[in-house]
Amino acid sequence: MNTKKVTVPTIVQMKSQAEKISALTAYDYLMALYLDDAGLDIILVGDSGAMVFSGYDTTIPITVDELIYHTRAASRGVKRALLVADMPFLSYQISPEDALRNAGRFIKEGGAEAVKLEGGEPMATTVRRIVDAGIPVMGHLGLIPQSINRFGGYKVQARTEEAVERMVIDAQALEQAGAFAVVLEKIPAAAAKMVTEKINIPTIGIGAGAHCDGQILVTHDMLGLFEKFRPKFVRIYAELGHNIREACARYVEDVKMNRFPDDSESY
Ligand code: KIV
Repeated sequence: MNTKKVTVPTIVQMKSQAEKISALTAYDYLMALYLDDAGLDIILVGDSGAMVFSGYDTTIPITVDELIYHTRAASRGVKRALLVADMPFLSYQISPEDALRNAGRFIKEGGAEAVKLEGGEPMATTVRRIVDAGIPVMGHLGLIPQSINRFGGYKVQARTEEAVERMVIDAQALEQAGAFAVVLEKIPAAAAKMVTEKINIPTIGIGAGAHCDGQILVTHDMLGLFEKFRPKFVRIYAELGHNIREACARYVEDVKMNRFPDDSESY
């Protein structure tokens, strides 16, 4: 495995070298450590932690302070991957100044190396303000979960020609504003291909088909830890939820039957 530190320029270069970018989420030290050891290029402290870590129904309630706490914990486990922190709902939409202040907290207090925010052309001024202060920004288009109340559900986006054209304009606006990559969430593969071909910065897909420059999943989904719902785009690589339940049930039985601890586990 390549042990060289992944930086923002590395990620941008990977697109020109047609090397696929691997990304997953982490919200704590141990998971970040495992992902880093596994060779992930990007570890995202996603606001998805609101759902899969904190048990909320949406990503909306998580706060800047909570996500900084998760970012700081994850940062202690990361040596090689690029650590990106998600900016939560209303931490960047009010004004570019407010967005910069909050982005700066993720870098200074959380130990992140870049931030991610949702939205296209309307966010360009904000992205530029943050990037000009030296903070790399990743964009996020398509199904943007912080706007779930506007969408009225987790539906596939960019299904019409007009919507795909709109997305290309949004992606180009993010690129021009200085974003170094764009997440494309839950859009048809053909739409993601079009966007990927029209910009020079990498696209990182989640439910956006195989033509993106990289792929990201929520780790708790792909490891089978989060069982509430399983979107079609998630490939399940392990059933850790089942394994944890089974292991803990065996522990309960061993304790009840006085099989634990035995002599080798006693002083
Ligand atoms: O919050 C998150 O985990 C994300 C990824 C799914 C892209 O935004």
